[in-house]
Amino acid sequence: MRILLVGSGGREHALAWKIARSPDCERLWTAPGNPGTAELGENVPIPATDLDRITAFAREQKVDLVVVGPEDPLAAGLVDRLQEAGIAAFGPSAAAAELEASKAFCKEILVRHRVPTASYRVYKDLNPAVSYLEGGARYPLVVKASGLAAGKGVVICEDAAAARRAVRAMLEDGVHGEAGRTVLIEEFLQGPEASAFALTDGRTIIPLETCQDHKQLLDGGRGPNTGGMGAISPNPTVSQRTRDAIERQILLPTVHGLNHEGRRFRGILFAGLKLTPAGPKVLEFNVRFGDPECQVLMMRLRSDLLPYLRACALGELEELEAPEWDLRPAVTVVLASGGYPGEYPKGIPIQGLDEIEQGEDLQVFQAGTTRDGDGRLVTAGGRVLAVTALGEDLPQARERAYAAADRIRFEGRTLRRDIGRAALSTLEGMA
Ligand code: AMP
Ligand code: GLY
Repeated sequence: MRILLVGSGGREHALAWKIARSPDCERLWTAPGNPGTAELGENVPIPATDLDRITAFAREQKVDLVVVGPEDPLAAGLVDRLQEAGIAAFGPSAAAAELEASKAFCKEILVRHRVPTASYRVYKDLNPAVSYLEGGARYPLVVKASGLAAGKGVVICEDAAAARRAVRAMLEDGVHGEAGRTVLIEEFLQGPEASAFALTDGRTIIPLETCQDHKQLLDGGRGPNTGGMGAISPNPTVSQRTRDAIERQILLPTVHGLNHEGRRFRGILFAGLKLTPAGPKVLEFNVRFGDPECQVLMMRLRSDLLPYLRACALGELEELEAPEWDLRPAVTVVLASGGYPGEYPKGIPIQGLDEIEQGEDLQVFQAGTTRDGDGRLVTAGGRVLAVTALGEDLPQARERAYAAADRIRFEGRTLRRDIGRAALSTLEGMA
């Protein structure tokens, strides 16, 4: 098959790494890709959101399957465009991608199809929102921008003053632009967080292995939220019983609900969850692989990924068996630029990557990297690299990932030292 992968992050490098190893992969292009994907196929200098040029390229090159990594082109309708052009694509239509692009829409779907989630109210105007915050509201509560705000549109508020500030910033000052012109005020849910992923063609679903993101910048879950500073798989806080509940109460009714409403979902459904005392509840849905969750999942996936991607696109998932997984745990540690998730410099030389022996058990996935005029690898984004390792057990996977991470140097390099540590305590508690 001739494959075009869309995107340029660590997630896409991990997908490219997995796809390139498929015996069915004849050619692989990545648009626009990064220096990591360039080593696995050919990068095409087309931005992920240039729907016209991506569609034209796929047609010219007789691409058999387009795999879309990030949410922006999905929300903009890339898959619809490709389908109109007769090109198979992995990823949801714009109508189904609204599940991530609009939190207000997502909530409506959840409520209509009785999927457990936090109770909420939606506001477009400041005054009624403030009356609620000063009247019936219970604290803490959560204020959210409804639209895509790059993971930054969520504020947890301890009291009415903080909530008023958050709502005013979104509705009046427009800090998140259009994305924040509608806000949700949500009940605060207690419990550990978990992410759940399932492949689906809109009818059949195949849940993937469990994993856990580490969203905050600093050790111990302190500091600002980021796109994700590291991940582990499996996630020991998610029992088999919880997995069954997630599948039955959350993933299946959501997929079937969307289908019922004429928004058939094909691609990967990513549920952000809280494991509350009353069972798993949805925080949000995403319509793509998580980054860096994808990196640990791809390391552990033993089966060929390509047949699954193709079957999701073509509506043939029912014909496939569940994939095989490496039983060993995987850990990924993100190396970020100094200053991330705020302002950070770019163009800083990255040293030591060449000396690392990469293979089945260790991969350094590239994200915010580029090559300068002399061909040297330099930083180009907030999250720069995701050092990913498998180990016989979690301590060994952590040791391998951190040993490799420590050999990579660039000025300002920022990482968490505790990826997987909370999971280790959970495991020790269970032993
Ligand atoms: P979201 O982008 O909606 O996943 O929110 C980002 C983060 O905010 C989540 O990962 C949670 O840590 C936190 N959060 C969001 N909504 C809630 C909620 N209703 N209760 C507790 N924490 C929340
Ligand atoms: N790591 C969380 C995300 O990709 O949204």
